Amino acid sequence: MSEADSHEKEQPEVGGHALGAHDHASGGEHAHGGGHMGHMETVKRALQKKLGDQYDAPLAELKGANLARGKELFQKSCASCHGKTGVGDGPNAAAFASPPADLTDAHHARYYSDRGRLEIVRYGIEGTPMPGAMKELGEQGTLDVYAFARSLAGSPPAASEKSPAEPPKKKKGGHGHGNHPH
Ligand code: HEC
Repeated sequence: MSEADSHEKEQPEVGGHALGAHDHASGGEHAHGGGHMGHMETVKRALQKKLGDQYDAPLAELKGANLARGKELFQKSCASCHGKTGVGDGPNAAAFASPPADLTDAHHARYYSDRGRLEIVRYGIEGTPMPGAMKELGEQGTLDVYAFARSLAGSPPAASEKSPAEPPKKKKGGHGHGNHPH
């Protein structure tokens, strides 16, 4: 007698989307609707978890990126979905349930950190059509193409909150050195 029984067990689905699902990002002025922002929240958390402290670290490597080459690579590797100008109207875009990000949308551009977005460009976003470019373009290529994609949104999303415009001065301790800067 075989024990093979015919009733399939229904496993409770252990989905990956439970993470940030309860967080209704308060994106009032953002016209995308809650689901989308909820998804982005989840993606963001995954990135933060993966990158740790690095998530918010400034992307100094950008200085070494080649924008012109990035533009070329973008047309080859990204425009099919994100569109030639990055607004998300590439020929493949229509096929997706979730549309390619509008890379010219500054809200999006600022939503993830620079390192977070570079990570996205390198390895893609799981569960979405967004592919990773690392295999195809390599380290420098991904950086170049990201630098270009980043430039599409106009103002750089880098230091928004804790902008280190003024390096923190440590002048505590009561020893009056007497050299106040004015
Ligand atoms: C097969 C279609 C496809 C291709 C090719 C593609 N993307 Fe995407 N991309 C998407 C989709 C879809 C999303 C939105 C994913 C989501 O729902 O989170 C996305 C999201 C992104 C994001 C995150 C959103 C944001 O505003 O920060 C970045 C950055 C990005 N893509 C850059 C690129 C770059 C650079 C390339 C080329 C190397 C590229 N993508 C190629 C489909 C694509």
